[in-house]
Amino acid sequence: MINHTTSTVEETFQLAQKITTQILREEIPSTLLLSGDLGGGKTTFTQGIGQALGITRPLVSPTYTIIRPYDIPEQTDSPFKRLIHTDLYRIKAPWEAEEFELAQYASHPETILVVEWPEKAAQLWSRIPHTQIHFSVPSPNQRIIQITSH
Ligand SMILES: Nc1ncnc2c1ncn2[C@@H]1O[C@H](COP(=O)(O)OP(=O)(O)O)[C@@H](O)[C@H]1O
Ligand SMILES: [Mg+2]
Repeated sequence: MINHTTSTVEETFQLAQKITTQILREEIPSTLLLSGDLGGGKTTFTQGIGQALGITRPLVSPTYTIIRPYDIPEQTDSPFKRLIHTDLYRIKAPWEAEEFELAQYASHPETILVVEWPEKAAQLWSRIPHTQIHFSVPSPNQRIIQITSH
């Protein structure tokens, strides 16, 4: 496990940039499970990934739409063509997540899948390679960000 502490949104963006580089080099799994409290920085971190991927369309929280796809502009040496951002916060029963076909996206070689509130569908992830990123809030502007690959 790697532990980071950021003190500004910009530092969280820089960490997201580093993680994106590792995904593009296929050093870590391209399914990211972002856990931790509301306001922890999960959506902010995902915006940093979008920026690092060169996505110019504003990346907004998918809390109400549950799932949002973004095209990744063509990059040399990158197999990834699509970012899927999903937020399962509003899922009430784990089976409700099945209709979003997240397991298919997770195993798709051209897709980067980012999931906020993955614990709402905990049954999905045990057999899927993933990078777990946990956010906690020790003080108003600090975020402890713990990264583990499974
Ligand atoms: N170091 C930091 N990293 C990320 N966000 C921060 C940081 N400090 C303050 N914030 C603020 O915390 C909030 C995080 O919100 P958000 O990313 O929507 O969280 P979540 O998606 O986990 O609910 C934003 O308003 C952001 O400006
Ligand atoms: Mg969020």
